[in-house]
Amino acid sequence: MSIQPSRASAASVGQAPGWWRRAVVYQVYIRSFADANGDGVGDIAGIRSRLAYLRDLGVDAIWVNPWYPSPMVDGGYDVADYRAIDPAYGTLDDARLLIREAHDHGLRVLGDIVPNHTSAEHPWFREAVASAPGSPARERYVFRDGRGPGGEEPPNNWPSVFGGPAWTRVASAGGGPAQWYLHLFDPGQPDLNWENGEVRAEFEAILRFWFDLGLDGFRIDVAHGLAKDATLPDLPPDADPSVPEDDHPFWGQDGTHSVYRAWRRIAEAYGADRVFIGEIGPMGPDGQARLARYLRPDELHQAFNFDFLRAPWDAAKLRSVIDATLAPLAEVGAPPTWVLSNHDVTRHATRYGRPYSGLEAWETWVERQPADRALGLRRARAAALLMLALPGAAYVYQGEELGLGEVEDLPEELLQDPTWERSGHEWRGRDGCRVPIPWSGDAPPFGFGPSGCTPWLPQPAGWRGHTVEAQADDRTSMLELYRTALRIRRTHPGLAGEELTWLASPPGTLVFERGAGLRCAVNLSGAAVPLPTARTTLLRSDAGDEDPLPPDAAAWYVGR
Ligand code: BGC
Repeated sequence: MSIQPSRASAASVGQAPGWWRRAVVYQVYIRSFADANGDGVGDIAGIRSRLAYLRDLGVDAIWVNPWYPSPMVDGGYDVADYRAIDPAYGTLDDARLLIREAHDHGLRVLGDIVPNHTSAEHPWFREAVASAPGSPARERYVFRDGRGPGGEEPPNNWPSVFGGPAWTRVASAGGGPAQWYLHLFDPGQPDLNWENGEVRAEFEAILRFWFDLGLDGFRIDVAHGLAKDATLPDLPPDADPSVPEDDHPFWGQDGTHSVYRAWRRIAEAYGADRVFIGEIGPMGPDGQARLARYLRPDELHQAFNFDFLRAPWDAAKLRSVIDATLAPLAEVGAPPTWVLSNHDVTRHATRYGRPYSGLEAWETWVERQPADRALGLRRARAAALLMLALPGAAYVYQGEELGLGEVEDLPEELLQDPTWERSGHEWRGRDGCRVPIPWSGDAPPFGFGPSGCTPWLPQPAGWRGHTVEAQADDRTSMLELYRTALRIRRTHPGLAGEELTWLASPPGTLVFERGAGLRCAVNLSGAAVPLPTARTTLLRSDAGDEDPLPPDAAAWYVGR
């Protein structure tokens, strides 16, 4: 059966050019969202079966993590074929159906494009390994001779983000010396050479392929990493490889901007409602101003706000991130975005229950301190009201609306994140935020798949209270908090615009006004704080309406 492209159905989500400026986008980590065929791995049919849930939750769009054929050395961020669907997830026809049905539910669908690297199993890389140094096939990647006698040392000292060196040596091919190839991530993810015209043309064709199929846009993986300093200089010995400074040789190089200018022209040719969101950074000091350069009117539409995600639960620090976000983005006309969790970081309902470590969200990579779950959940509820009251777009990671915490006791033999092996077992990695989510029932698989199926990562027995079924219609649940907040966000005129005014408030609190007198107050101090007595409460994270507002709680109200 062949199913026609779903362009026609785009009408059901409306031709709304600026929809993304204040959208709420729900991140679907496909492996762990819903499993229709019972093999323990989520799939496209599973997403289709839950579209009504997503519509009723009140989000505007979904972003689906990579679904392409992949050896899965890095959860699908190692793509072997950019124009197909991994058989574990379904087929291209399933993708067409998903897009069509999502549009019919009023939801847009964003894909995930991975341009920094391919899989080592991609035909291009196989060809490169089999070809001689200097050949056109090798020019698509970053191959170099090694240093030292016999070229036995890597070409420079760049580290891989996942641990160990960023270079791997291949066997000698075509009689030349054995060369090294660059992989900023796993050796199974060779970096592409974005100076190469063929690479640029190929990705432009890939974008057109998916736009033709009906996708509404893309999240761009490692969007600030494409261009490299061609001289491949060593990093200074004390450089933090994850935080870009000026003139970093592989993060934030200027050469990347021309790629996005070309991509923007392609998106515009399909209509002003097609959108790109860049995974950029975190960008270090002055990060938001650096980020804004990617969001100039002829480049990307949005970028994730990792400074917000990584900020500690501290009023002054959050306020300074919010201010540092709004000003530079306004200058380029881009909307701010807000995000608390994703598939790479410790879930915030756990993070906020820990003393701030200084390593922020990426502390999946270090020995963990115990978390106070109840405290983390209270703060996660308040953080949701903060995030959803801010102007701009918000990104919700699957399961955060259920109050899921990080699963920190996965058996070591089941860990799949490459960081676990690459770090010599120093970093447990990101599996704990990727456990299949619970929908219903009292025991695993909790409705994730048909009963009897074994989810690819084990779900904690304690999740029985976190299922959608257990939380639906319970006005004190996290799910109902998200549903109500999203309904108010969609319908209240006070949240329609892009304005924000800070109001004077006691130390350790954040109080701001949006339009139509709508205010958001968040109490991050250790003591209860009074709210104005003349007010109409719209929503409270602590589900009460008492005055004063307790610590770690937030309120939306209209002041009078
Ligand atoms: C993705 C990660 C992935 C990495 C390499 C990221 O930023 O979000 O999950 O491991 O890119 O592709």
